[in-house]
Amino acid sequence: MKKPSTTYVCQQCGATSPKWLGKCPSCGQWNTYNEELVQTTDRIRSASGIGGRTVNRAVHISEIQTRDVTRINTNNNEFNRVLGGGIVPGSVILIGGEPGIGKSTLSLQIALNIPQKTLYVSGEESASQIKLRADRLKATTDTCLILCEVTVENIIPQIRENNPGLVIIDSIQTLRTDSVESSPGTVTQIRECADLLIRHAKENNVPIILIGHINKDGNIAGPKILEHMVDTVLQFEGDSSHVYRVLRGIKNRFGTTSEMGIFEMLGDGLREVSNPGELLLHKHDGNTSGVSVAVAVEGLRPFAVEIQSLVSTAAYGVPQRSTTGFDQKRLNMLLAVLERRAGFRLGTKDVFLNIAGGIKIIDPAMDLAVMVAVLSSDLDISIDAKTCFAGEVGLTGEIRPVNRVEQRISEAEKLGFERIVISSGHRKNTSILHVSTIEIVHCGKIEEVFRLLFARSR
Ligand code: TYD
Ligand code: MG
Repeated sequence: MKKPSTTYVCQQCGATSPKWLGKCPSCGQWNTYNEELVQTTDRIRSASGIGGRTVNRAVHISEIQTRDVTRINTNNNEFNRVLGGGIVPGSVILIGGEPGIGKSTLSLQIALNIPQKTLYVSGEESASQIKLRADRLKATTDTCLILCEVTVENIIPQIRENNPGLVIIDSIQTLRTDSVESSPGTVTQIRECADLLIRHAKENNVPIILIGHINKDGNIAGPKILEHMVDTVLQFEGDSSHVYRVLRGIKNRFGTTSEMGIFEMLGDGLREVSNPGELLLHKHDGNTSGVSVAVAVEGLRPFAVEIQSLVSTAAYGVPQRSTTGFDQKRLNMLLAVLERRAGFRLGTKDVFLNIAGGIKIIDPAMDLAVMVAVLSSDLDISIDAKTCFAGEVGLTGEIRPVNRVEQRISEAEKLGFERIVISSGHRKNTSILHVSTIEIVHCGKIEEVFRLLFARSR
């Protein structure tokens, strides 16, 4: 009998090599090669009996008929928002996140509230465990089917038989297919299982949500090509010590990736946070130094967020820089600008920065509020609670205009702020002057802002 041939596969990126390698030449990771049996794709196809070869002809783009895509409303506004308005039929969505962040809770909650019949396939929990969780989550529909199964060859007939409007797989790492002889969770297994499910989704127009584990670097475990294969990749993240969770789009073939959905983890599941401004703002009294408010925009949605900073004298040689929810490199850059522009003694100070609620926000318009908070703490002068900020800061200390400034201003006004500091680059934008009653302060340089806020007491 012929000895089965094996190959070594990088568990990080899926690269193959005939012999074991310590470092993957493709992705640069160490010690990621595992020995796996070689299987040709055709053998896999024929073994699984799914899919066939069809021949397509090239057609002119103007001849292609488009169908109106009606997106499936998941009855969860934050989830719809991240997807770009609901689930596109036949699309495959991958949700990644750390253990215990709430991936199973989120997907079960969707299964229990979506009007369509949903098949929830779990390879991790027993049916009774899922039922216990479902009881807490309070279903609004009665169309959810549960299947505890890990073999794709058994799952696909169940999908065919029940004909659900949505399939949820929890998780892709626990699945296995008989056509590949490696253990579940290996690159070959993940890739083949995903391929079989994606084919089924496309051929039958059934959307599938795949839940994926992430590895210690924060990437979705398994081959990177899994992310290429699916239509949408969402990351579910949050600080486990906080109740807020953020669902962020990393890739989306049917919408933008700049939107984020915010949830709050409560005793009875995830609650949608549709008005984050009010939650992220702790209504400080204006008597505490080191606190400022930025008006940030994520996707299309503006919200005010409180920034807290603590500056203290460095006790040991190397000063500490610690941030929660803000890019540390960006903070270092802003501190260097502060040193130059405001005489902030960078080398002798520890700086701690915290975005309230533990939510990570990626918006350059937060720069100004961050600098103000740091200087406020350093000088021990509080910032007026009715003032907020929206501006990007450049290396020379100039304040740059930011996008969607009108929306930021009206959000600030709605939340009861009396003054907003923005870039003088917005002066030409006359539309903002007519819509608001809030005082708009234009500043061109960071020094102007500091003079305005701290001059009296210096
Ligand atoms: P889970 O969805 O099991 O996480 P994942 O599938 O991402 O690993 O989330 C579990 C956590 O969520 C658990 O630690 C407890 C918490 N939780 C609540 O706080 N309230 C709830 O109603 C539920 C179902 C879970
Ligand atoms: Mg889970």
